[in-house]
Amino acid sequence: MIKLSKAPKSGLHGEITVPGDKSISHRALMFGAIATGETRIDNFLMSDDVMRTMTVFRELGVAINQVGSQIKVIGKGLDSFTKPKHALNMGNSGTSTRLLMGLLSKQPFDLSFFGDESLSSRPLRRVAEPLSLMNAQFDLTADNFLPGTIRANNRLQGMTYEMPVASAQVKSAILLAGIQAEGETIIIEKVTSRDHTERMLRQFGGIITTNNGVITIQQQPQLRGQHVLVPSDISSAAFFMVAGLITPNSEITLKKVGVNPTRVGVIKLLERMGANIKQEPIFSDGEALADIVIKSQSLHGINIMADDIPSAVDELPILALAATQALGDTVISGAAELRVKETDRIATVISELTKLGADIEEKQDGMIIHGGTPLHVMQDSVLLDSHGDHRIGMMNAVAALITEGNVILTGEDAMSVSYPGFLADLTAIMREKL
Ligand code: S3P
Repeated sequence: MIKLSKAPKSGLHGEITVPGDKSISHRALMFGAIATGETRIDNFLMSDDVMRTMTVFRELGVAINQVGSQIKVIGKGLDSFTKPKHALNMGNSGTSTRLLMGLLSKQPFDLSFFGDESLSSRPLRRVAEPLSLMNAQFDLTADNFLPGTIRANNRLQGMTYEMPVASAQVKSAILLAGIQAEGETIIIEKVTSRDHTERMLRQFGGIITTNNGVITIQQQPQLRGQHVLVPSDISSAAFFMVAGLITPNSEITLKKVGVNPTRVGVIKLLERMGANIKQEPIFSDGEALADIVIKSQSLHGINIMADDIPSAVDELPILALAATQALGDTVISGAAELRVKETDRIATVISELTKLGADIEEKQDGMIIHGGTPLHVMQDSVLLDSHGDHRIGMMNAVAALITEGNVILTGEDAMSVSYPGFLADLTAIMREKL
């Protein structure tokens, strides 16, 4: 438990380089492991979730070393893995689980895997079903949850698949199976989800075409190890964007943030709410990068619809907090996916923010946030719980910055899933300006 005080009257000030992108760090390890030769990864995210993927590959016999701040993966190709001694522990990581179900669906041995309580109640049918159409075989619980086994298999078959949910995890699992499958694999996406897998496959020498939501791949020639520079994670930066906007008298610069067009929903939605967010592009030959400058400003409510969700799916909890401070109502619709994240984020956002006097109505597929409510503690102190969800824990901490009264955070350890140093970075910009 930790007590967090309100931000000083002089606001939040400073420059922050948030840690590396979680999605890209997972994928850099995966492509490094299945390529041949050395992959060097800079600004790699050392967080609980990504360490799950790293441990899996070590258990599969892949050499992964840390040299200074750089990770080196010595890949030997998809046929080089050795049977692990233990069942694979996926912890809290949905990305490790779903992507690896595709990537490891054509190995000559069974692979058992399990996760923590939250992960064991997150849906896997969405990946097991399309991968089974490609001839992959899984044993999962009767409800398609973990624990489970990826069955030994020596043949995958390409297919054409129209995505029923907008999910980069599902898309990536199919792509990672598709690169090993006979024939063509075609994926049709109605709304584009994050495209890091497609970009990284290309960077590693793979062949992939994307055209108006139709992605086509074949069995790939051998991929080659690469240098990957991981951008700072926009999903982590989002907490500081909102903190800077809603805490009076603030100015924060976020350095080298990844601004891939499929991830910048949070910036676009905040701009629709009236925010003026300055982006200074930085040259990069990989994923797009920019420094982002945020100053406190007033916001107004907006409608957030289904098409807006995929590019901002992880940022909706912190956007909900921003909406409590905006003028008027913000209506979030088409966001039922929030119910199957690390927690049911519609329920956990509402349970925590209403403890501070926020006025939020629950909808099956989102919420209606009646804005303009100053946050306050009704009794001596209030306990905000992360419910074991990293993004709820960080939202709680940002809420504390603008709350009158004693706020105590519990379950703050969960933040290490994506941002181990979050509280230290937050308190560093809270120091009184001299
Ligand atoms: C991720 C995709 C998103 C996101 C998750 C990471 C990825 O999930 O919520 O944190 O790395 O592909 P969905 O694609 O299932 O929405």
